Amino acid sequence: MKPRERGDGWELHRGDCLGVAAGLEPSSFALIYIDPPFFTGARRSGERGAYGDAWGNDVARYTDHIGERIAAMKPLLHERGSILVHLDWRAVHYVKVRCDAIFGANRFMNEIVWSYNSGGGSKKRYGRKHDTILWYGAGPNPVFNADAARVPYDAVIAKKRAHLFHERGKVSGDVLDVSRPPNHAKEWVGWPDQKPLALLDRLVRVHTNEGDRVGDFFCGSGTTLVAAVAAGRSAVGADISEDALRVSAERLAGAGR
Ligand SMILES: C[S@@+](CC[C@H](N)C(=O)[O-])C[C@H]1O[C@@H](n2cnc3c(N)ncnc32)[C@H](O)[C@@H]1O
Repeated sequence: MKPRERGDGWELHRGDCLGVAAGLEPSSFALIYIDPPFFTGARRSGERGAYGDAWGNDVARYTDHIGERIAAMKPLLHERGSILVHLDWRAVHYVKVRCDAIFGANRFMNEIVWSYNSGGGSKKRYGRKHDTILWYGAGPNPVFNADAARVPYDAVIAKKRAHLFHERGKVSGDVLDVSRPPNHAKEWVGWPDQKPLALLDRLVRVHTNEGDRVGDFFCGSGTTLVAAVAAGRSAVGADISEDALRVSAERLAGAGR
């Protein structure tokens, strides 16, 4: 399939990811990360673009739509590849059941929680301060670079016991604490529901090796693609929105290899 635009280590495709996925080379991706509309029931708009997320409150229609696209992406993964499906409290449970049917419940590796703890709270319930990322392996042994998943130990380690601990910290639990970048941050380009580069950088490094191919077929402003290229991977993006591809291309041009 001919990309709409390409650069050093990246290419962008315009269109519904269902059709885009059908035209890409099978078994060629180490990681597919997707951050589709979350079933918010409203059009999402930001400074640089907008996208639809209204489903007439029909979660079955939404789940069929997303599930069909995830199923089309499955053949693109190589045997040690992974897919990460980023959603939130609204529909993640429905999509989890669908993904179990697509990949097999035994291929479910982790329910990764992205905890961001920013913004205001609620006086009526606990603040909704996390998203959920479902991780499935294409096979039984997906790439997991434990050293890239290390975080500092919680406790202070006494010098005489230091040899018992890893110098770069412990392998993280399944809750990833990553702040949302403030609106004045350099990486913030104003795409609706744009994700932090630090989150995607971590996921790319943990789930792939240098030179691997990373895909994001709901790429929005291209955060995954920028993280992948900056980490020495190649990146394939797709989005239905022309504005998204324009923003992604601008960001990728500055990402460098
Ligand atoms: C939540 S945003 C992605 C944000 C992105 N992760 C970022 O950091 O900027 C979802 C994107 O999915 C795109 N989209 C919606 N339906 C699509 C489809 N069927 N195929 C491809 N892209 C789609 C929208 O245009 C939107 O850019």
